[in-house]
Amino acid sequence: MLRRIGVITRDCAGVNAALRALVRTAASHNLEVLGIIRGYDGLIDGNLTVLDRRSVSGIINLGGTILKSARSERFLTAAGQQQALKTIREHGLDGLVVIGGNGSLSGAHLLATKYGIRVMGIPATIDNDVNGVDFCLGADTAVNVALDALDKIRDTATSLERIFVVEVMGRDCGYLAMKVALAGGCEDVLLPEQDFSLEEICREIEAGNARGKVSWIVIVAEGRATARDVAAAITGLTGLETRIAVLGHIQRGGRPTAFDRILAARLGNAAVEYLMAGETDKCVSLKNDSLELVPLEIAIQPKKLKFEPEYRLLKLLS
Ligand code: F6P
Repeated sequence: MLRRIGVITRDCAGVNAALRALVRTAASHNLEVLGIIRGYDGLIDGNLTVLDRRSVSGIINLGGTILKSARSERFLTAAGQQQALKTIREHGLDGLVVIGGNGSLSGAHLLATKYGIRVMGIPATIDNDVNGVDFCLGADTAVNVALDALDKIRDTATSLERIFVVEVMGRDCGYLAMKVALAGGCEDVLLPEQDFSLEEICREIEAGNARGKVSWIVIVAEGRATARDVAAAITGLTGLETRIAVLGHIQRGGRPTAFDRILAARLGNAAVEYLMAGETDKCVSLKNDSLELVPLEIAIQPKKLKFEPEYRLLKLLS
């Protein structure tokens, strides 16, 4: 039987809403929750705080994580892992919920397989690159934040009849770029998962120009190229003026969308229920509106997404 669990977080929109759901579900089972401050570093340093129903009130709409986060180099070492185990023992943690992307979930998998700790993951990353999981927390908000920025860029692109190259995040995954490009009505998108020809893009721009189409927005996924290089190449090949925008970390922040809050409520609740039912070394996921479990050893594998149908649609409609 579980009496006390810990929770570790990375930051993106929806993480606080998931914490709220997790803590309140746990409270309904008289299960205590300790929040671990600054991710795996907090586990190593024994930096924990009690989370009760009241400590998670008023956070459903907040971006980031109230627990703070960090990329922990120390947790990659044997000494760091031993320190983390000591904290788990000293604080009487019967299990851990880990909310984050591939790095965080890899840490959870290691704790489960190497040290026998009971863990449950909640996929949360704007990259949406957790394998076997359709929707990671934070991805929908990131698409909407980027789209809002893109709509503003479009105002200038249209008014001044300019070519814009806009770089979005996503690490090695093109999910965010593809969704933003399609939702934003962009002319093209350069994805890590697909080949592209700059010469072909430039031919299209020149042909469009000849027809009187003078404003273009090309999205670049950060895992594919930089906006600066692509813009310089377009100017080099066409002689046309370009502007760039690198959206950066605004995409990871902001108020979670309704979709992310509801996902957070369901995943936060399910993580506790599954842990209590004896499940471990898995992460919760929503598929076809039903909750399911994905083994962490699958979740941390590289995700291979195919964007051809959406890309064809973008090209047809642009
Ligand atoms: O994994 C989320 C993400 O925002 C990526 O999209 C991006 O490449 C990376 O993190 C940025 O990392 P950092 O915040 O450490 O600069």
